[in-house]
Amino acid sequence: MKEYKRNLLNKIKKKSLNIGLIGIGYVGIKLVLAFSKNKNKVYCFDNDKEKIELLKNNTSPYSYIKSSEIKKKTKYLNLENKISNINKCDVIIVCLPTPLKKEKPDLSHIKSGWEKFKPFLKKGQILILESTTYPGCTEDIFYKYLNNKFQIDKNFFLGYSPERENPGDKEYDFQNTPKVVSGIGKNSLEICDLLYQLIVKKTKIAESIRIAEASKLFENIYRSINIALINELKIACEYLKLNTYSIIDIAGTKPFGYSKFFPGPGIGGHCIPIDPLYFSWISKKKGFEVKFIQLSAQINKFRTNWIISEIKKIIKNQNKKNHKILLLGMAYKKNIEDTRESASVKIFSRFLNEKMCSVDYCDPFVKKITINKKIIKSLDYKKINYNNFDIVIIATDHDKFDYKKMLKSKKIIVDLRGRFYNLKNKNNIILL
Ligand SMILES: NC(=O)c1ccc[n+]([C@@H]2O[C@H](COP(=O)([O-])OP(=O)(O)OC[C@H]3O[C@@H](n4cnc5c(N)ncnc54)[C@H](O)[C@@H]3O)[C@@H](O)[C@H]2O)c1
Repeated sequence: MKEYKRNLLNKIKKKSLNIGLIGIGYVGIKLVLAFSKNKNKVYCFDNDKEKIELLKNNTSPYSYIKSSEIKKKTKYLNLENKISNINKCDVIIVCLPTPLKKEKPDLSHIKSGWEKFKPFLKKGQILILESTTYPGCTEDIFYKYLNNKFQIDKNFFLGYSPERENPGDKEYDFQNTPKVVSGIGKNSLEICDLLYQLIVKKTKIAESIRIAEASKLFENIYRSINIALINELKIACEYLKLNTYSIIDIAGTKPFGYSKFFPGPGIGGHCIPIDPLYFSWISKKKGFEVKFIQLSAQINKFRTNWIISEIKKIIKNQNKKNHKILLLGMAYKKNIEDTRESASVKIFSRFLNEKMCSVDYCDPFVKKITINKKIIKSLDYKKINYNNFDIVIIATDHDKFDYKKMLKSKKIIVDLRGRFYNLKNKNNIILL
């Protein structure tokens, strides 16, 4: 039995692994790039044939990854997308989506992927889940079948390692962010740990898979609650006529006990709006209702609606027909292209249906967007004439926007990101 573990550890040491990556999305693509070096071969599997075709043509499927980076790596990749190739892999890493369906975890992607690849598993492999999920999920989905077919932790290994990707972050990247690793037993843990040491500077061992699963959720619950708190305080400060950003600036100088969070138009992306509900769902199922998580989700939603109603008030006060609105930034976060759950999309859609105004958008990273089956194209950020609009909403403050030109236009700027908070003359700026 020991030979299975020894064999895997040997291949890790020699960097000559066959690694199967299931789901080449935001998370999967990073792993593809990180593992494709030395003598490793990375087998890519994805339902989306278009993505695989792009990779075959040395083209990046994502704006934040250059095609030249892909080109350097294609010689390490197997892009046949043939699921039976799983039996050629030493390591199988699952990076499939974990959305919600009716406020409950939707594990259909992992389950359908699992059904397709499980017939091709063999002795001596390690299976690792990277998707964010509730504590107990890895074992609930994989354990029973694996335990019937193999001797777990002896001739087949199982691990969990949550992804901590922060798209657009220039300080903390894949390599310098500690990677949490866990295993079903001590052999699985050792293999999982050494495997990730190939691609990150530091790993952090979790004592069990469940602890690792829950740690990822804690991280996102913490963010969701703190964002909700600052979003609510921002509204309160409007009533108190206080500049929230100045307060954050001062409070943030305390070196302990305070972490800076900034208000915004609401929340977006995959992690913050969704992951906390994986925790509250399982906790409720086991008999305890976590009130904080639900409350923060409600406040973050309220914040978006509050902003919409404040902008409507601004329009009404202008006493002008057919207001022209320009929304800047459709992605949920600056300098990236991800529009999943984006509050900007919600704000834009609401004004699209308003008779009192017309609305355009501009996002250098999101060339088009589909709303109510209608495709809407972004204006070219290099050619924007701000004077053509009555109100400019900074929903997401991408660095590519020309803020000087924007200010010169003297149009009303509704700043939802505090981009202009410390500007001396704020006459045409409304910090919402
Ligand atoms: N995006 C992030 O920044 C981030 C950060 C941390 C954790 N996560 C977690 O990682 C997991 C993956 O997220 P993501 O953002 O990479 O998702 P994604 O939607 O970008 O990518 C998932 C990929 O899986 C493919 N896919 C779906 N079902 C499939 C199937 N049955 N077989 C093969 N391919 C299939 C899709 O085509 C897509 O390319 C999720 O659990 C998410 O919560 C994401």
